[in-house]
Amino acid sequence: MNTTYRALKLGGLLLGLGLSGGVLADEYYSIKNGELERPTGYREWVYVGTPVTPNDMNNGKAAFPEHHNVYIDPKSWKHWKKNGEFRDGTILIKELVSVGSKNAVSGQGYFQGEFLGLEATIKSKKHFPNEPGNWAYYSFSDVTHKNLSKTAKPFPAAACNACHESAAADDFVFTQYYPVLRAGKGKGKAASGGYEDKLNNSYVEPRGGK
Ligand code: HEC
Repeated sequence: MNTTYRALKLGGLLLGLGLSGGVLADEYYSIKNGELERPTGYREWVYVGTPVTPNDMNNGKAAFPEHHNVYIDPKSWKHWKKNGEFRDGTILIKELVSVGSKNAVSGQGYFQGEFLGLEATIKSKKHFPNEPGNWAYYSFSDVTHKNLSKTAKPFPAAACNACHESAAADDFVFTQYYPVLRAGKGKGKAASGGYEDKLNNSYVEPRGGK
């Protein structure tokens, strides 16, 4: 490869990065006139866990139906692995998925069905200097769980932050329910999985009926 070609290639790369814009300029989200634009691409971020609040265990109607697939943006995951804290600029996505089937060849249970909605939380001093912990909360889901809005306004602190502040394990985030974040906190490379022999859990193997 000659030098001119290399320089051209580098120029193209830099141009490409510049044009992908939003991500570089304002993290993995874009807030305009106080409204968050619906984030895109989050299913390719880092997946941290799936709490499930099925309708049939919540008087027929869970507040957030039903599986909650939670993702963190890659830059914040890197920071979490290294420093064990949520950096300014963190965004977490909670994508709602219905309970589809309740049994499969593997046994009875709650299996994921269809997408129902989208929630998000962002930590930013710049955007939310007065919110508790600088976290703001958003929902793109509609009441029927059929559509997503293009933008969302942050909820008042009392609607979402208060519960997160009092009950979440780590800086307003429910890391107690996300094994990937819990086990990976400050663990560096080991956080990505597969590096340790010991699983460090409290699981008790049930006695088999055979
Ligand atoms: C009654 C307490 C409570 C309230 C109120 C509440 N949440 Fe949560 N939230 C939780 C719990 C518990 C979890 C983790 C387990 C789960 O997903 O069910 C969670 C998780 C989340 C997550 C995933 C990231 C994280 O911080 O753990 C988002 C995003 C979220 N909630 C958004 C919202 C929004 C938006 C509102 C307001 C409309 C809201 N929450 C109100 C209890 C609450």
